[in-house]
Amino acid sequence: MQDKLKELIDKREKAKLGGGTAKIDAQHQKGKLTARERIELLADENSFEEVDMFVKHRSIEFGLDNQHYPGDGVITGFAKIDGRPVALFSQDFTVFGGSLSETNAEKIVKLMDQAMRVGIPVIGLNDSGGARIQEGVMSLGGYADIFLRNTLASGVVPQISVILGPCAGGAVYSPAITDFIFMVKNTSYMFVTGPNVVKTVTHEDVSFEDLGGAETHAIKSGVAHFAFDSEIETLLNVRSLMGFLPLNFMDRAPEKEFDISSIVKDERIDKIIPDSPNKPYDMKEIIRLVVDGENFFEVHQDYAENIIVGFARVGGMPVGVVANQPSVLAGVLDINASVKGARFVRFCDAFNIPLLVFEDVPGFLPGTEQEWNGIIRHGSKLLYAFCEATVPKITVITRKAYGGAYDVMNSKHIRGDFNFAWPTAEIAVMGPKGAVEIIFKKEIAKASDPDAELTKKTDEYIAKFANPYIAAERGFLDDVIMPDETRGRIISCFQLLKTKVDKNPRKKHGNIPL
Ligand code: HXC
Repeated sequence: MQDKLKELIDKREKAKLGGGTAKIDAQHQKGKLTARERIELLADENSFEEVDMFVKHRSIEFGLDNQHYPGDGVITGFAKIDGRPVALFSQDFTVFGGSLSETNAEKIVKLMDQAMRVGIPVIGLNDSGGARIQEGVMSLGGYADIFLRNTLASGVVPQISVILGPCAGGAVYSPAITDFIFMVKNTSYMFVTGPNVVKTVTHEDVSFEDLGGAETHAIKSGVAHFAFDSEIETLLNVRSLMGFLPLNFMDRAPEKEFDISSIVKDERIDKIIPDSPNKPYDMKEIIRLVVDGENFFEVHQDYAENIIVGFARVGGMPVGVVANQPSVLAGVLDINASVKGARFVRFCDAFNIPLLVFEDVPGFLPGTEQEWNGIIRHGSKLLYAFCEATVPKITVITRKAYGGAYDVMNSKHIRGDFNFAWPTAEIAVMGPKGAVEIIFKKEIAKASDPDAELTKKTDEYIAKFANPYIAAERGFLDDVIMPDETRGRIISCFQLLKTKVDKNPRKKHGNIPL
């Protein structure tokens, strides 16, 4: 009996060493943690329960029949984050460079299938040289099996990818299908083809970091939603994100206790909008003053900064915040901002997370670059996403709501549940000067002093249209509210909307303009 127990203890010890101490040291020397150290940081203490620790590959080519590491380069299992269950896999770079073998893929697929059956999120810690080269098509098949699971799980359970080393070739498409990608600066990279292939094909000289490092993807491509300086910071932020998410599409995101009598008016919010309508201000100041504890967990912080997206709580309830940012490009909607906003809105809708919109938008960005790259197609993604969303949706117009962007940013017409405006709001087809130049073109041209006429007509237009009251008269707004009333109104509206039921027509699936 004791021998048998000892045998298990020894086998476990061996499995825990992965590729061995030399490889673990090499991993540490690169400034990276091991697959198991990462799990320890991510999961609640002692909560990780491993499965398939003893799985071995079945390859015999290229001398692999003599090289076996229990677990075969990926650690899989179930853990808790803040007491809530998750399924986890962590690729072990110390075993064949974390490369994906047939059996290694089977472990991930098995984990994902179980996560789907019980309805819990899947978190993948990626650190892999890609397909296990010795296995050829068996490994490619393994990737495809995972891609299929990623796709079928999309919208059923949240899926999070954390890139902590190489992620190259077709391997990038598994994280790309998941909901959120985290990267670590200087030690992780993602690309379809590496610097050598780029050099051969396009003759460009580019480093790993510039081509596919964390900052590249967080700032330029938008592939990464988060980029942090260290693995520890990254994993702690994965934990924070999980705190806003439900376990699955039928669950509700975890609420925190909230005492409604604790709401106090904060006068700081009354002073944020500048007197001049063309002066920028930071929408994040408004967001922080409206949400609980001034805590805003921003997503895609460095990409398309003219729109802000992220999670917060209002009255204890998690919400997804979408806001124009007047301090970047005047908050205009361009291609990248539209796509960023649309993907976030769809995530929130898929997982029952109510949407809170702050609007100050002068319209869509004009220009050949935007038109030729398809602002029509991409802008419509944001419109589509807000239109189809059936979660509780509240909009606050702080200043400009011009043109098509007025409709797009969760207007009443596309099923906004509560639409508010501040007294500083201007709701119109376009900005006053542009509008006057079109509708009074002849009068201005004929006037003895065209500039004076333009100013006069512009002032008249502002007095008449640059306010929220025409929209309020029509019921396109539910109310015009003081800035310092915003937090209280939003909390009570979201409380009311808890029992909201809304449905889209029966269909196989919609055809969002991709
Ligand atoms: C088998 C691999 C491997 C792989 C690394 N190793 N990648 N073994 N298959 N794909 C092994 C190495 O042989 C080495 O073993 C150990 O892992 C560590 O690798 P190093 O090269 O020493 O590490 P490093 O210098 O840090 O370089 C890491 C690396 C490099 C940049 C990832 O290993 C590399 O370029 N690997 C190949 C990447 C690749 O081309 N993969 C296929 C991509 S295509 P020893 O025993 O010497 O320690 C793909 C298709 C997916 O993935 C398609 C899906 C549809």
